Amino acid sequence: MRLFVLGSAAGGGSPQWNCLCDVCRLHWAGDERVLTRSQSSIAASADGKSWLLLNASPDLRQQIIASPLLSPIANADDDARRATPIAAVLVTNGDVDHIAGLLTLREKQRFPLYGTAGVLGMIADSPVFQVLDPAFVDKRAVTVGETFEPVPGLSVEIFSVPGKVPLFMEKGEVDVGEESEMTVGVRLSAHGRTAYYIPGCAHLPEPLKARIRGADALLFDGTLFTDDEMRRAGVGEKTGRRMGHMPITGEGGSLDAFDGLDIARRAYIHINNTNPILIEGSDERRIVEAAGWTVTHDGMEIAL
Ligand code: MLT
Ligand code: MN
Ligand code: ZN
Repeated sequence: MRLFVLGSAAGGGSPQWNCLCDVCRLHWAGDERVLTRSQSSIAASADGKSWLLLNASPDLRQQIIASPLLSPIANADDDARRATPIAAVLVTNGDVDHIAGLLTLREKQRFPLYGTAGVLGMIADSPVFQVLDPAFVDKRAVTVGETFEPVPGLSVEIFSVPGKVPLFMEKGEVDVGEESEMTVGVRLSAHGRTAYYIPGCAHLPEPLKARIRGADALLFDGTLFTDDEMRRAGVGEKTGRRMGHMPITGEGGSLDAFDGLDIARRAYIHINNTNPILIEGSDERRIVEAAGWTVTHDGMEIAL
C-alpha cells in the first residue's frame, strides 16, 4: 500500500495568505526551516496505478501538477484525451479544506465520490457543487462500519470520530465532540497492512484507541500544538477543541493519548500554520519527534 501526502497543512495552508503569526512570518521572510505546505489531502493506492483521493483540497490542481504519480495516463479503455490515475474520491467531512477541490474535478471525468449521506447531502444541496455533472460523478453514500473497495485491492472502512459540523453550517450552540457521520476517520488496508487517516478529531475515546492499536501507520490530526495556540498567536479566539481538533500536547493531547498503542508509524497531518512543529529544529518539533512522530510534508510518501 502506498500513501502519498498531497497537502499536509490544515485549512488556510502554510503560509496562510493573510497571516503574520510567528510561523507564517518566517515563511514570508524566506526562512528555509519552514516548508510551504498545501491544504489537507492524501492519495492512497494498493497497486500504484489507481489512486483514491482522500479529501479534495482547494489546492488540488497544484497538488496534482506537483505529483507526477497523478499525471494523466491514458489506459486502453479510456478516452485517449481524458484520463487520470485518480479513480475515486472520498471526503471525510464537509469542511472547505476537504471539499473545495471537488470544483477542480468538474471537467467531465468519470469518478465515484464517496462520503457519508450527511456530507454528500450537504454537497448535493450546495448549488455551486451542481457543477459536478451526475452523469460523470456518481455520489456513493457509505455508512460507518461498511467496507468497500473504491480502487483495486484497497479496502476502506469509515468510522465516526468526535467532531462537529462544518464551520459554515454552525448555527447557535454547536455540539463539538459529538460522534456523528459529519466527521469520519478512514481505515485503509491492502496486502495485509493497515493504515488510519484521521485529519480531524476532537478527542480520543477508548473505543477509538482500541481500534487504532497495533496499526502499521497513522496519519493524525496535528492541527495545533497547544489548545490555546491561536489565541496566543494573536490570530483568533477559538481553541483547538472548539474547532473540533484535539491538541498535540497538554491535558488530553494526542502525544499522550497514543503513547503505548504500538503503532508502527505515526505522523501528524492537517497542521495549522500557527503550529511551531512546522519549524524544523524547533523545540516543539523535537518534542514530537522524540515521541516517535513524524511531521508530514507535501510530497511525502509512506510505503507499507
Ligand atoms: C477545520 O479543520 O477546522 C476547518 O477546516 C476550518 C475551516 O473551515 O477553515
Ligand atoms: Mn480543516
Ligand atoms: Zn499563520
